[in-house]
Amino acid sequence: MRGNQRVLILDFGGQYNELIARRVREQQVYCEVRPCSMPLEEIRAFDPIGIIFTGGPHSVYEPGAPTVDEGVFSLGVPILGICYGCQLLAFLLGGRVVPAGEDSAREYGKTATRFDGACPLFRGLAEESVTWMSHGDYLSQVPPGFTVSARSEKCPAAAIWDPERRFFGVQFHPEVNHTAEGRAMLRNFLYGVCSAKGDWTMADFRSRTVRSLREKLGDGRVLLALSGGVDSAVCAALLSEAVGRQLTCVFVDHGLLRKGEGDAVEAAFSRRELNFVRVRAEERFLRRLSGVSQPERKRKLIGEEFIRVFEEESRRLGTMEYLAQGTIYPDVIESGGGGAAVIKSHHNVGGLPGDVGFREIVEPLRLLFKDEVRQLGRELGLPEAIVGRQPFPGPGLAIRILGPVSRKKLAMLREADAIFREELEAAGLRADQYFAALTDLRSVGVMGDARSYDRAVALRAVSTEDFMTADWVRLPYEVLDRASTRIVNEVAGVNRVLYDVTSKPPATVEYE
Ligand code: XMP
Repeated sequence: MRGNQRVLILDFGGQYNELIARRVREQQVYCEVRPCSMPLEEIRAFDPIGIIFTGGPHSVYEPGAPTVDEGVFSLGVPILGICYGCQLLAFLLGGRVVPAGEDSAREYGKTATRFDGACPLFRGLAEESVTWMSHGDYLSQVPPGFTVSARSEKCPAAAIWDPERRFFGVQFHPEVNHTAEGRAMLRNFLYGVCSAKGDWTMADFRSRTVRSLREKLGDGRVLLALSGGVDSAVCAALLSEAVGRQLTCVFVDHGLLRKGEGDAVEAAFSRRELNFVRVRAEERFLRRLSGVSQPERKRKLIGEEFIRVFEEESRRLGTMEYLAQGTIYPDVIESGGGGAAVIKSHHNVGGLPGDVGFREIVEPLRLLFKDEVRQLGRELGLPEAIVGRQPFPGPGLAIRILGPVSRKKLAMLREADAIFREELEAAGLRADQYFAALTDLRSVGVMGDARSYDRAVALRAVSTEDFMTADWVRLPYEVLDRASTRIVNEVAGVNRVLYDVTSKPPATVEYE
């Protein structure tokens, strides 16, 4: 069976490598990120339609700087070098790369750049547009066979190309949004230069993966821990399609999920062909958490308890040959780029049991990005409430209740949170993450004629690309007003609503 056309991304340690891969896949072209040390034989066997060299923090002329097997230039495959990748391409093919003086060709940030439309990379694009630069070295001499195809004020060779060999180098980063026409350039490379067909679709991935899972798993039994999150849910749906009742999903319901979430998970899986076990463990978790107010302690206790419940349950279920995990591609890239399987420390907790005696770990989503996982979930017919779910921390509402957790506080927070989310969604607004937290602040209020001394709920809505940094969302006052009015009216024990206007850093997204 012939697989998808593939693009190979060779990783030189740049910070945007994952982004490059996402941008390629967005164009319906399959790609993988591999270390730049990938042996030539493997590159050949990978059979790429195009190769991309990523950026990286080094200088090509430093001793020991990362490089590539030069045989790659004789494969007849088009190459696009980005930033360090561009410099390396030039350096290895006979050009000159030198450090830029402080005020010469060093560039950082948005840079006006002029393009030569004859170069296939820039065909059909504006003659001048903004690119994102971040380099201290520059190309002072173009290698033989190459010509300059873009210039900026400081950089005489912002892009180069060799039409014969179909090699391209760009000093800027086409993968970041700040490069105005970056997506179009990558598209030109993929479709115009590498003749991509755009055959990477989720329907295709689904049928192919189901087939290979059936082959691999035979009649073995598979165990999966469902957390209620997108990844494990999609993993479960995919495996259930592949092996049906050989799959057992254990959903440890720690009682710290949002309103209606546990039931939604159960409903989504009860109609599928698989064994679904919901362990109602709220009581146990609450007992462990009783009186605990230290955030790290809470996380640790929840993690430990989760493993304990899961272990008990899997022992009860008897021997299983396989343990399935919803590991996704960013986890794989982070842990070293597609090498040996790494058991993902379960995001709920500190790690899944290592001694339960599984023959093998199965990770059917390990080559997918988050948005692809969601797409696959839709393809498999999972409800939007699960597939479109915003990120939710494994320790759940326990870390959105400041101070000790109790059943009563959980009930309050669930209601307040549901109201806030309802109002935001009803107004058609979008934020990457939005929720309510129950603070440990109590304050005086007046309701009717009576004095109250109740809790304050904090509302938080953030926008972010990667959750490493985030900005608070400027929600319209009317929406905040409706949410606030409803919360104090409908949630007993809350008499004050605050909106969090702190970005990350210095704050974090969550409160604990
Ligand atoms: P912070 O609070 O660190 O959160 O700014 C960044 C993102 O990570 C999520 N988060 C977690 N996710 N287990 C998870 O699976 C956790 O323990 C955890 N803590 C934070 C948080 O919701 C946000 O999306």
